[in-house]
Amino acid sequence: MKLFIDTGSVADVEEIAPWGVLSGATTNPTLLAQEDADPGETIQRICELIDGPVSVEVVSKTAPEMVAEGRALAAVHRHVVVKVPFSPAGLEATRELASEGIRVNMTLVFSAAQALLSAEAGATYVSCFMGRLDDISVDSEAVLREIVETLRGSEAQVLAASIRNPRHAVIAATAGCDVATIPAGALRQMTQHPLTSTGLERFGSDWKNRPELGRWLESLVAG
Ligand code: E4P
Repeated sequence: MKLFIDTGSVADVEEIAPWGVLSGATTNPTLLAQEDADPGETIQRICELIDGPVSVEVVSKTAPEMVAEGRALAAVHRHVVVKVPFSPAGLEATRELASEGIRVNMTLVFSAAQALLSAEAGATYVSCFMGRLDDISVDSEAVLREIVETLRGSEAQVLAASIRNPRHAVIAATAGCDVATIPAGALRQMTQHPLTSTGLERFGSDWKNRPELGRWLESLVAG
């Protein structure tokens, strides 16, 4: 499963892209609105930092307006994938954008039926929101698994979104999702384990107790 970062913050991408684990990014209007920055510059910079798809969302409600916004957003950078909210108008806009060769990430998908329609309309990515399903006491894992099963054999990729914690990311992977888009906080949490921290401390202190070993390694590095 590929990992995307879910953010509107250039600082998040600058921090996490060097880890070498990101294949793309997703933004949404809420995430971009949280930043005190020019959205065009933010998108441009994220596209430069990540060598992969960067989803940017349209905000209009009618299909012709979504198509116009989608074309304009796609022209910002070759990495941009146009994010279209699910609705009948969104399906119509997706069909048109896809026919022009513009990749679409269909967002706000909460059921296998919506996923099926999104894939048939030509969406490249179908985004199922795990956290928001859990928020209303719907089993997000069950929905995600049904979407993966429903889209088996389709060209559309299942993207797990609204990921709130490392467990969601692992569930998305085991369910067979193609991609999970994960906020910076959850990505940082994924690096943490108490046994990693205590193990690292122990290695450090054991090594320090034998200073001659440290001198050996320093001389090795110095060549
Ligand atoms: C990404 O594509 C979505 O917009 C995002 O994951 C939504 O996350 P949230 O439900 O935590 O706002």
